[in-house]
Amino acid sequence: MKLTLAIAAAFATVALAGPAFAGPGEDLAAKEKCNKCHTDKDTKKGPAWKSVAEKYKGKADAADKIFLQLKNGGKVGDEDDHKKVVASDAEIKALVQVVLSSK
Ligand code: HEC
Repeated sequence: MKLTLAIAAAFATVALAGPAFAGPGEDLAAKEKCNKCHTDKDTKKGPAWKSVAEKYKGKADAADKIFLQLKNGGKVGDEDDHKKVVASDAEIKALVQVVLSSK
C-alpha cells in the first residue's frame, strides 16, 4: 500500500513536470544529473548503463546491489565517492530498472 502510494506520487510529480513524460526512473536520473557521468550507451566519466546492464545480466542480486549503491553512495568500483541518491526507495528502484534495462 505504501509502495503504491509512493509510485502514485512519483507519477504525479512527473505528470506535473510537463509533457516530457518518461517515467519516475528517468525523471530521477535527470533530477540527480546522472548524465554528467553516465549515458545509456556511451562511456563518459562512468560506465555506460548498457555495459552495467550487461555486466549484471543473469545475476539475481543485481537490482538489490545497485539499489544499495545508489542509496548509500560511497565506494563503487574505482569511484571512491559515488553519488548518493536521496529519494524514496520506490523512486530509486525505478532508477535501478532504468539502468538495468539500458541497451
Ligand atoms: C561524478 C560522476 C558520477 C555521477 C554524477 C554518477 N556516477 Fe555512477 N559511476 C561513476 C563512476 C566513475 C563509476 C564507475 C566505478 C567503477 O566501476 O570503477 C560509476 C558507476 C555506476 C554504476 C555501476 C555500478 C557497478 O556495480 O558496476 C551505476 C549503476 C551507476 N554509476 C549509476 C549512477 C546513477 C543512477 C547516477 C545518478 C543518480 C550516477 N551513477 C551518477 C560516476 C558517476
